[in-house]
Amino acid sequence: MKKRNNKLTKDFGSAVRNVDDKFEPSELQNPVPWPFIAIAVALAIFGGFTLYLDAQATDDGGDEQLAKTVADKDTAPAKVTAADMDEADGDMTAAQGAALFATHCATCHQTNGSGVRGAIPPLDESRYVLAEATAPIAILLRGISGPIEVKGNTYNGRMPSFYATLDDKEIALILTHVRSSWSNAAEAVTAEQVARTRQAFAGNLNQPWQGGFELQSVFGIASVSSDPIQAQTEVTAQHAEDQEVAQ
Ligand code: HEC
Repeated sequence: MKKRNNKLTKDFGSAVRNVDDKFEPSELQNPVPWPFIAIAVALAIFGGFTLYLDAQATDDGGDEQLAKTVADKDTAPAKVTAADMDEADGDMTAAQGAALFATHCATCHQTNGSGVRGAIPPLDESRYVLAEATAPIAILLRGISGPIEVKGNTYNGRMPSFYATLDDKEIALILTHVRSSWSNAAEAVTAEQVARTRQAFAGNLNQPWQGGFELQSVFGIASVSSDPIQAQTEVTAQHAEDQEVAQ
């Protein structure tokens, strides 16, 4: 093979020829410095020792916790009783009833149940509110449109229906609130009672009651307060007593 003879090749050629062909790369003699080894060993010993101590600590803590739990058990207050639960439930129900009343009824009947003179009848001491639960339930479901007399005054406005906007539970909560607030002391109303009443009037929920006369014919509530029939619808002594026991 004929060797090329230009300047550039010549220069490189001499550079290459100067390199030691025998050179082999090899690791230099460079031992790990002893302080490094000393630190690594110290850390290893420290780590092992710490693990051992931690294991011991967990065991001790476990015993301590167990002893504490046993001690707590002896001094812990008695379990929450069914009565406590009922009381808490009662508070909850009352608060929910009051809140629903504020939202759906108080704008017209007022927060204190007094109604508005000449326009909205009172719920406080109303014989319709205190009657057998079916009557006030039916009034809420269907509303009223027609003359109605409450506590000596006759009203002829419009009470809206709630059959579509309130469910059984909500109506029960509202009526329970109304029947136990201010001077009222009548039995609580249950969602089951509302469901039954809703069923009973299922065909004409969207027709408001035509006033006091229709309510008298269906529920036997006197259309005029002075009527002796009213006595039947007043809260009985037994109801008042039940209410006291329940509180
Ligand atoms: C838009 C105003 C309005 C709202 C809201 C309203 N009512 Fe009435 N309510 C009336 C009017 C007016 C009457 C009387 C109807 C009439 O004059 O024909 C009445 C009558 C009643 C009666 C029978 C009469 C009496 O005083 O006992 C009851 C019970 C009653 N409402 C309860 C409620 C309850 C409970 C609510 C809430 C769920 C409610 N109302 C919401 C206006 C209202």
